[in-house]
Amino acid sequence: MNKDEILEILKEHPSWYQKIRLPFGLDTPGRDRSQIANQIFPTDLDGASVLDIGCAEGYFSFAAKERNAGRVVGVDIDGDRLATAIRLSRVLGMDIEFLKRSVLDVSELGVFDYVLCLNILHHVTDPINIIHKLVNMTRKKLVLEIGDIGLKSPDIGRLRANKALLGWWGPLLKSLPSALQPSILVVNSRGRFLMTRKWIEHFFHNQHCDVERLEFINSDRPNRYLALVSRRNLTALRFVSGPSSIGKSEFVRRLKSGDLEVSQLLDLNMQDGWQVMTALDLQKSPGVEVNKLALEYNICRPILRRYRDYEFDPALTIERVADKKTAYILVCPSEYLVSRVKEVLNSYWLPMRRHKRRAERLIFEYSQPGRLRKLYDSWISYCKAHGFEVRYIDVSSRKAKAITEELALKLVS
Ligand SMILES: C[S@@+](CC[C@H](N)C(=O)[O-])C[C@H]1O[C@@H](n2cnc3c(N)ncnc32)[C@H](O)[C@@H]1O
Repeated sequence: MNKDEILEILKEHPSWYQKIRLPFGLDTPGRDRSQIANQIFPTDLDGASVLDIGCAEGYFSFAAKERNAGRVVGVDIDGDRLATAIRLSRVLGMDIEFLKRSVLDVSELGVFDYVLCLNILHHVTDPINIIHKLVNMTRKKLVLEIGDIGLKSPDIGRLRANKALLGWWGPLLKSLPSALQPSILVVNSRGRFLMTRKWIEHFFHNQHCDVERLEFINSDRPNRYLALVSRRNLTALRFVSGPSSIGKSEFVRRLKSGDLEVSQLLDLNMQDGWQVMTALDLQKSPGVEVNKLALEYNICRPILRRYRDYEFDPALTIERVADKKTAYILVCPSEYLVSRVKEVLNSYWLPMRRHKRRAERLIFEYSQPGRLRKLYDSWISYCKAHGFEVRYIDVSSRKAKAITEELALKLVS
């Protein structure tokens, strides 16, 4: 393409958002986002796939291709911007799929190593649902650029805007150090969603155990910031699962201490780099790298924590990032469980009300006809539906032993 043809493109585009370097020393007249691209991408993407949502004229898609990305897809709902992005990809000789599509319709494009969603979330009506969806489309890193309520902005105009949004709390909150800033998600007077960093932190730490690390970087725009969300990647996941008081912790304690019998039953050697955690540990340990995870899981969690259904337990989001998945399910008759719950309650010198309430609830679940079986049935269905190989261990006698599904179900019925 000659210089005149490129000048024609520059003249014809209605409004430029991004500065893009072109041949003949030419640039598009938009915002220079190269600092941000340098912080998002490594220097060599080594064939990684990239999805750029709300790509505008395509700057980040080009930046990814320049860094040796493999498949790159840019989507935008603005036809003018997309048409220009396509023309520029020809100028730059880059093979990129540019598609006219909304952020609401990206799921069918598949999974990408990098997913970028910069400066879009405040334009949509349901950002929370979109973030959940984008996490599931990400193999390595999801990058969000988000509108903040501007607590740290030094300019007085913002201070006034905060006052309008939050009353006198605005200026007050603005003066807080970042560690004390509040977790806020608000819709401002223009109908835009604004989220503080603390809110994003709470959201990912409490809702997504499939996220390993969350980092923030400053945006080149005032009152915006970027969240870099790195997804976990497990080669193997084993559930050591069963109801409250069945003896999972003891089982896990023996596993950690190298007990041969338990290691053989779970087909797991601690020397092979396994980490053992409870669902609670997992929720409290963002930033901890895990490769092979044995997860001690209480199948009563949805009852005790009011999730009702395993699908809503944030700890179980971990299964989405695991390659090989096996669920070991500990079983024993309900009478044994009831007596264990009573034993635990009696072991408290002064049981608190919440201990008593929990024990009452568990005794109800274990002793009402059919309820324990129903609990196991729904856990087994969940595991099978999510691609787990399911194995059963009978722990009703001193020596635990592997048993068939048929025997296991008979034991808990
Ligand atoms: C503010 S620009 C940001 C461009 C680019 N992501 C960046 O940060 O440099 C927002 C872009 O998102 C597009 N956009 C807005 N709402 C969208 C939606 N629901 N789905 C896809 N793109 C959208 C707009 O057309 C526009 O090109």
